[in-house]
Amino acid sequence: MNLDTSYLGLKLRNPLVASAGPMTQTAERIERLAEAGVGAVVLPSLFEEQIRADADRDERLAEVNMDSFGEAMTFLVDPDASVWPRQYLDLIGRATRSGVPVIASLNGSTPGGWTDYARAMQDAGAAAIELNVYYLPGDPPPTSPSPYIPARDNEQRYLDILTTVKAAVSVPVAVKLTPYFSSFGDMVLRLEQAGADGLVLFNRFMQTDIDPTTLTISTGFTLSSPAEATLPRSWIARLRGRVRSSLAASTGVETADDVAAYLLAGADVVMTTSALLRHGPGHATALLDGLTAWMERKGFGRLAEFRGMLAPAGDTEGAYGRRGYLSAVERATQAYAPI
Ligand SMILES: Cc1cc2nc3c(=O)[nH]c(=O)nc-3n(C[C@H](O)[C@H](O)[C@H](O)COP(=O)(O)O)c2cc1C
Repeated sequence: MNLDTSYLGLKLRNPLVASAGPMTQTAERIERLAEAGVGAVVLPSLFEEQIRADADRDERLAEVNMDSFGEAMTFLVDPDASVWPRQYLDLIGRATRSGVPVIASLNGSTPGGWTDYARAMQDAGAAAIELNVYYLPGDPPPTSPSPYIPARDNEQRYLDILTTVKAAVSVPVAVKLTPYFSSFGDMVLRLEQAGADGLVLFNRFMQTDIDPTTLTISTGFTLSSPAEATLPRSWIARLRGRVRSSLAASTGVETADDVAAYLLAGADVVMTTSALLRHGPGHATALLDGLTAWMERKGFGRLAEFRGMLAPAGDTEGAYGRRGYLSAVERATQAYAPI
């Protein structure tokens, strides 16, 4: 059975990728994931805020008279602020020893010099950069005196950030996306024009909620469920064959069937975080064994024989458009409320 695949121009031994999260936070965990068989790993994000804090600290140190440098170090250096980016580069270096391609993740929301860090990631050994623009323009547009900011301006920041990262590196850059654009398909084309080599569908937001018992607002990350895969899978199927970028699936992989379904939709790689956190790094082996067994049952010898087989190839109306919607409403009405 041949599971070879290519993602962002990188040759991978199989399409299972450990996505950004705590499971790829240390070299030891990455080593265990590599032993369990993953095709690549994405490191947790290095955040714009961490890079800016580090740069601020360097600037403050530079302002101090060199005669008092040693003394300054003792009170100016916030150890947390100073080590993040350096530790990150060290992690990249150690992670590459696992033998699987290491993708570094940059996470921010404003254009600026912090994106230069992509270059340091590349120099430390990252095979590619995953860019996560975590930006939530949730507030209604302010009225007078502030000008109204059209959605297109909010979306322009994704392109601006991508452009600066692309200018800093020669390795491929994937963009981890949210589905919440004014027009997702249009945004994908604009990202490609700005140089995106890959698209990761989708990022998962923190789950802010309201607890009526404690009268508090809670923030946090819950682990995903397979039902959440429907939206990214639909978009991967719709984009397959219509974009030149690599397509990575992220969200809702629990079983080998979830991996197979994403590949049938047209994903080049399938990422997982929640399932690895739930079951441990060895779950990667279970997913790969399950995928191989499924391919045997279906008579497939290579990924290319079935990847994108169920993408609608241009005619999205029946499966994903209004025509499909109307017949789905009809069927659901018959199923759930028959007359
Ligand atoms: C605890 C936790 C930490 C995460 N940290 C990051 C991160 O640093 N950067 C990032 O891009 N995504 C991060 N993610 C999102 C995952 O990479 C992934 O996109 C998301 O969990 C959906 O995939 P899943 O359904 O397989 O969990 C994190 C997810 C979890 C649960």
